[in-house]
Amino acid sequence: MPVGSRRTPSRKGSMADVPKDLLDQINRLEELFTVPQEKLKQITDHFVSELAKGLTVEGGSIPMNPTWCMGFPDGNETGTFLALDMGGTNLRVCEITLTEEKGEFDIIQSKYRMPEELKTGTADELWGYIADCLQQFIEYHHADEELDQLPLGFTFSYPASQEYIDHGVLQRWTKGFDIEGVEGKDVVPPFEAALAERGVPIKLTALVNDTTGTLIASAYTDTQMKIGCIFGTGCNAAYMEDCGSIPKLAHMNLDPSLPMAINCEWGAFDNEHKVLPRTPYDIVIDKESPRPGQQAFEKMIAGLYLGEIFRLVLLDLHQNQDCKIFEDQDVSKLSKAYSLDAGFLSAIEEDPFENLSETHDLFQNKLNLICTKPELELIRKLAELIGTRAARLSACGVAAICKKKGWTNCHVGADGSVFNKYPHFKVRGAQALKEILDWPANKGKGKNDPIEILPAEDGSGVGAALIAALTLKRVQLGQNAGIRDPKSMLAGTKAAKKGTM
Ligand code: GLC
Repeated sequence: MPVGSRRTPSRKGSMADVPKDLLDQINRLEELFTVPQEKLKQITDHFVSELAKGLTVEGGSIPMNPTWCMGFPDGNETGTFLALDMGGTNLRVCEITLTEEKGEFDIIQSKYRMPEELKTGTADELWGYIADCLQQFIEYHHADEELDQLPLGFTFSYPASQEYIDHGVLQRWTKGFDIEGVEGKDVVPPFEAALAERGVPIKLTALVNDTTGTLIASAYTDTQMKIGCIFGTGCNAAYMEDCGSIPKLAHMNLDPSLPMAINCEWGAFDNEHKVLPRTPYDIVIDKESPRPGQQAFEKMIAGLYLGEIFRLVLLDLHQNQDCKIFEDQDVSKLSKAYSLDAGFLSAIEEDPFENLSETHDLFQNKLNLICTKPELELIRKLAELIGTRAARLSACGVAAICKKKGWTNCHVGADGSVFNKYPHFKVRGAQALKEILDWPANKGKGKNDPIEILPAEDGSGVGAALIAALTLKRVQLGQNAGIRDPKSMLAGTKAAKKGTM
């Protein structure tokens, strides 16, 4: 490629030698997976009304959870905080010191593997394992020290309804988790009990969603940041609402101008299947998932599902009498559910060779399938269609929040494996934003756009620590809305001793 040129987000490819049966299928798939401009606009408009509905007393399918994170940091936050991130693959523990220098911090961190069995094990095993990791962290980094209670921001990236910031009733597991006895209950008491059993000197200050952490961490360094998004294993966003626009909190008589971060849980958008252009493959994904009927939007977008959609299409084509693909080959590996991840699709889309030789090798090594050139063309096209649909649908959510709030110019902080690693995701999203919001021709390239989606700061580390800091500051100022027990929140912490932060 010449210097300065950019790869376009889709490949022309040569369809000249593709036989009619495969070409017909390519056209059919293109029809199924393409979301045209008009549809994007229709989805966005419906999204705007669903965001508002989620804030009402009756509610809708998007939970729109108030998080009791009530304001942005101003850069003057100080103190030492722990942050715990319970992700899908790893458990990360950080100790973050917000220093006297405005907007600066020091961080130490350790990662622990999250055993796959935990995801479908028992609640006791989960909390016990997490508490063990925290204990190890403290013993390793603070051996033989007399410690004050360390305030903790716990990033728990699942839908939780919060009456207080240190409280969270799990609405339902998402992202393939299925641990019995947790849904419908406050996750904080069993977590704290596991810590107490081990005598670990930690006080949970804030239960945080990864999107809220991303929003706050990003706004710490960029005041134009208005939305925090995760495009990873799951897909979701948070933004700052004013309490006066949250009818479901009206009974609390909060000052209507007070800010309140809302964890949208937009993965649940269109659970009632009114607008999203679902394909038969999306329907299978849903049916076979641990929570059918939930997370309709997420299941078309998030990293956990992209590889599976792709696998289902290929398997269907193989079984389809109308076309010939992987003829007379053993498809046992391709038949295994969830055997392909989003990284597999990324690798296909990144194959730089005109003859798609890397894709050929991938299929041979991973799936034991030898592909012909026309099959490779179909495979590449399919990956592109699935990746593009994900990026374009994601843009509808971002555009909807901006439309609801009347924001025409702002930054959006984004994190997650799909955003950071999936080829062309950003530019495809920007193009879709342009189509939805009717930007001028020179916009929508992903740079200097009116609404620009940028890589976020570390939400589940620095973001969670900042939210813990903001919470303690509020308690000290006597602003106790959404704090379960202000006295006990400070008890034994350094903040209580000093009286100030
Ligand atoms: C799922 C979770 C949500 C989280 C998102 C990204 O949608 O329900 O809480 O923010 O994944 O991790």
